[in-house]
Amino acid sequence: MNPKTFKIKSFGCQMNVYDGERMTELLNARGMVAAEGEDCDLVVLNTCHIREKAAEKAYSDVGRLKREDGSRPLIALAGCVAQAEGAEAKRRSKLIDIVVGPQAYHRLPEMIAQASLGGRPVDTDMPALSKFDALPKRRRAAPSAFLTVQEGCDKFCTYCVVPYTRGAEISRPWSDILAEAQLLVDGGAREIVLLGQNVNAWRNEGCSLADLIGKLAKIDALERLRYTTSHPTDMTDELISAHGEVEKLMPYLHLPVQAGSNRILKVMNRSHTVETYLAIIEKMRAARPDIAISGDFIVGFPGETEEDFEATLQIVDAVHYSSAYSFKYSARPGTPAAAMEDQIPRDIMDDRLQRLQLKISQHQLSFNRSKVGTDTQILIERKGRRNGQMIGRSPWLQSVHVETDAAAGDMVDVTLVAAGPNSMTGAARAREAA
Ligand code: 5AD
Ligand code: SF4
Repeated sequence: MNPKTFKIKSFGCQMNVYDGERMTELLNARGMVAAEGEDCDLVVLNTCHIREKAAEKAYSDVGRLKREDGSRPLIALAGCVAQAEGAEAKRRSKLIDIVVGPQAYHRLPEMIAQASLGGRPVDTDMPALSKFDALPKRRRAAPSAFLTVQEGCDKFCTYCVVPYTRGAEISRPWSDILAEAQLLVDGGAREIVLLGQNVNAWRNEGCSLADLIGKLAKIDALERLRYTTSHPTDMTDELISAHGEVEKLMPYLHLPVQAGSNRILKVMNRSHTVETYLAIIEKMRAARPDIAISGDFIVGFPGETEEDFEATLQIVDAVHYSSAYSFKYSARPGTPAAAMEDQIPRDIMDDRLQRLQLKISQHQLSFNRSKVGTDTQILIERKGRRNGQMIGRSPWLQSVHVETDAAAGDMVDVTLVAAGPNSMTGAARAREAA
């Protein structure tokens, strides 16, 4: 029997969220509807392979889909675990009916039809960009909408599976991106977040990411633009200048550094040093003094000494991150780092992660406090927990709680009146007459 209701569960990065939305639209176009409750005919697990824990979660989630009476929905394994494991996934779990990689999900409807007849199709091909042409046009969008412009990675950091799971760097044509952005804005988006594993390496027909941002900024009803994730090596002067020139480009940059020791950065094959990274931050602050900088860190990379780790703590102080994500190193099969000597014991990693996170949270709170008293605008995204309370985002990507009768998608003038470690409180201001 063909399934009628479905649930898509996305894990990991924002690109998986974007892919999940596109799969939803695809299945809707085929007459299937998203299930309201837990019970449904098809579950798509849109998985993440970046760290071991995330990848293992996929299989335990599959196991949990069995109902008490022994029946179960059709189960599709999608995302990066599907790409990495391919047909092996079907051997690891008999419950998996469909294995579909991130470049093949436009084929989901026919794979569902095959699985309904008892087949167990696998598709992990990587045809360059053909999925985008095969997906239905977008109709509705959240106030802040994701738009994938670039996929894949050619950087081959020695710890990372992305070059294997998402393939080589590929840029979508600028004309397709502009058309999709217009549809998102027509569908309600006020902010667009351009996504790519190496978003600042995006290039098409001689056009750079800075040019693309310039073109997108001309869409009238679009208020804000952001992009993520960038690699330091592709951070051009032109893109940095755009932060000082394009008003709609928000003062926020996610620029992972991973470690603060040049020796470790070298073995990570990061192709930048602490000095070149700090030089980018300096230029960025010259172009846009109020820019909020965010980053990613890995602690316990093979061979990391206490001295190396202390250098990571120092770079956090040097940059004054407004927020940052930090992870314990996780050995990934097939990556060069997994075979390196001197893997770091778990208790040392735990201790370093705790110390790093403490430092990051101090900087985050101090950044938030530095904004108290600032008049700014927030984009309302959703209802808050209390009656009459809404949650929006500041230009610096802080979550802002505010009492207002404005709705999701509205821009509201606020004064930031209080700061917490993870969010701000805003007081709505009456709009001044023009
Ligand atoms: N172990 C731990 N963290 C990792 N990341 C990528 N690969 C690994 C790994 N093997 C982190 C990096 C990257 C973020 C998305 O995930 O910090 O920027
Ligand atoms: Fe992974 Fe490095 Fe590519 Fe980022 S730049 S996706 S960390 S290989």
